[in-house]
Amino acid sequence: MSRLKIAIQKSGRLNEASLSILRECGIIIPNGTGKLIAESSNFPIDILFLRDDDIPQYVHQKVADLGIVGENVLFESRKQVLMLKKLGIAKCRLSLAIPKDIPYNSIHFFSGKTIATSYPFMLRAWLDQYKVEAQIEEISGSVEIVPGLGLAAGICDIVSSGSTLFSNGLKEVELVMKSEAVLIGTENIEAAKKTLLQQLLFRIDAVLSAKGKKYILLNTPNDKIDAIIQILPGMKSPTILPLAEKGWSSLHSVIDEDQFWDHIDELKKAGAEGILVVPIEKMIQ
Ligand code: PRP
Ligand code: ZN
Repeated sequence: MSRLKIAIQKSGRLNEASLSILRECGIIIPNGTGKLIAESSNFPIDILFLRDDDIPQYVHQKVADLGIVGENVLFESRKQVLMLKKLGIAKCRLSLAIPKDIPYNSIHFFSGKTIATSYPFMLRAWLDQYKVEAQIEEISGSVEIVPGLGLAAGICDIVSSGSTLFSNGLKEVELVMKSEAVLIGTENIEAAKKTLLQQLLFRIDAVLSAKGKKYILLNTPNDKIDAIIQILPGMKSPTILPLAEKGWSSLHSVIDEDQFWDHIDELKKAGAEGILVVPIEKMIQ
């Protein structure tokens, strides 16, 4: 029987995020074996643990059918692969940063200076766009220590929480691109694997749809039902069930979590009681 092969990051920010989205899809993956490949016991998929920078290449060469990488790594690699889905996880940005005590006015700060980066292709394209002539020093790791060593005026690197920049005395001065994790694949995948891929994509959609959504249950006097539905515009067609207490109903619906916090006071004022907001694991549209 066919099995899918998916390449994910061996260690780093994307490793945990990738494993957790696969697990949320109900895929059992053995824990911390330290092996290069882990086989799921309940879905025909094998997980390959690789350096994230190598993932587009492995997918391009069909060593893996699928991969999870940051858009930053994908675009920098310039490998011909299909971007199947944005995953909304591991969000970060590719930014320029300089030592925090150095004054910065504009992008022309970088004219004639050296910038260290692991993303020379994207940095060059961005500098060209603004017609800034700077020297690019390609470095494969620990880029953040370079300005402190006096080897470059600044860096162009991934910023997520910002703690790496902070602990190296750097400040972010320009945004080059925003990035998030994406699922990549190859064209002409064999039929049996394609069926498995459809199943996996279906599960991923169910997991992504549920993110940021909550199931809300509340009790309301019957004459307030319309007002309450107005307050929560996302609540298109709520389920309304009569309560044992006469003249009262229980109203159930799916809402955006943000929307809930914005409208909680109005809901209470309108007469809602016993409000419950519960997480949703999967949502099939
Ligand atoms: C990036 C970047 C920093 C870190 C920044 O590496 O190179 O090391 O993340 O994150 P922070 O703002 O939360 O401190 P990445 O995770 O892309 O992994 P890499 O080792 O493959 O470059
Ligand atoms: Zn990397």
